[in-house]
Amino acid sequence: MKIGVIGAGTMGSGIAQAFAQTDGFEVYLTDINDEFAAGGKAKIEKGLSKRVAKGKMDQAAADAILAKITTGTKDICTDADLIIEAAIENMEIKRQTFKELQEIVPASCKFATNTSSLSITEIGQGLDRPVIGMHFFNPAPVMKLIEVIQGGNTPDELRDFIVDVAKRIGKTPVQVNEAPGFVVNRILIPMINEAVSIYADGVASVEDIDTAMQLGANHPMGPLALGDLIGLDVCLAIMDVLYNETHDSKYRAHVLLRKMVRAGKLGRKTGIGFYDYS
Ligand code: CAA
Repeated sequence: MKIGVIGAGTMGSGIAQAFAQTDGFEVYLTDINDEFAAGGKAKIEKGLSKRVAKGKMDQAAADAILAKITTGTKDICTDADLIIEAAIENMEIKRQTFKELQEIVPASCKFATNTSSLSITEIGQGLDRPVIGMHFFNPAPVMKLIEVIQGGNTPDELRDFIVDVAKRIGKTPVQVNEAPGFVVNRILIPMINEAVSIYADGVASVEDIDTAMQLGANHPMGPLALGDLIGLDVCLAIMDVLYNETHDSKYRAHVLLRKMVRAGKLGRKTGIGFYDYS
C-alpha cells in the first residue's frame, strides 16, 4: 500500500517512519518544497543511525526503511492509496491541501488527517470524498495509540479501513467521536497548561514540577518537558481550539504559554522552551 504523508515536520516524518518500517507499505513523504521534505527524511535517518549505533538495528535494516521513503512535494502522490495529512494546524491550509490533492490522486485514494484538535467535519467540507481523523502521538514510531475520529460525514467503511491500517502498523486504535481535542489532548494539554500556571505562580521550579509528576503520577516525562516535546506552539493552538469551541474558562491558555510562543521559545524544535536544548 502506498501512503502519501503531507508535511515532513516532527509528526509527518514520524508517521512516515512508522509505515516504512512495516512490511507492505511504501511512503511518499512530502512538504511544500523538496528541501523540507528531504529534511524530514534526514530526521528519520538520524534517528535510525542512533539505533544502529546502539546495536538495536543493523545498517541494512535502516537502509531498507529509508529506501521505502520517497520525498518531494505532494505532486508525487499520484498513485497513493491513502493520504495522511500532517501539515500545520491551520484549517484553511488543510482544506486547500486536500482540494489540490483530490485533483492529483486516484478516486480510490482515502483521505485522513492527523489534526490534533481541528474539526474533521470542517476539514472535509466541499471535498469529493470523506475525511477521517487518524491521530498519531509524538514520537509517532514509538507511541502505540491512534485516535480514529469520524467526522459528521465519515462513513463506517472508512473508519474500519483506518482501524485495520492502524493495526497493521502495530498500533492500537481507539474510536472517538468528533469533539475539540478528541480524548487525549482534551486531558493532556490542559494538564500541561496547568503546569505552566503552577510554574508562573512560583509554586515550584520547572525541574521539580516535572519530577513531581514523573515520580508522583508515574508519567514517563514531566508536563513541561512534554510541552517542549510536543511544541509549545502546538500546545497553545490546541488550548485556543478548546477555548474557542467551548468558551469554557477552564481551557484558557496561560499568558506565559502565549508569551513563550510569541518569543519563539517553542521547545525542542527551536532549541529552547522550558528547558535549553542547545
Ligand atoms: N523517534 C523514534 N524513536 C524514538 C524517538 C523518536 N523521536 N524518541 C525515542 N524513541 C525510541 C528510542 O529509540 C527507544 O527505542 P528502543 O527502546 O528500541 O531503544 C525508545 O523510544 C525509548 O526511548 P529512550 O530510551 O530514549 O527514552 P525513554 O524511555 O525516556 O522514552 C519517550 C522516551 C518515548 C519519549 C517517553 O519519555 C514517553 O513516552 N514520553 C511521553 C510521550 C507522550 O506523552 N507523547 C504524547 C504527546 S501528545 C501528542 O503527541 C498528541 C498531540 O496531538 C499533541
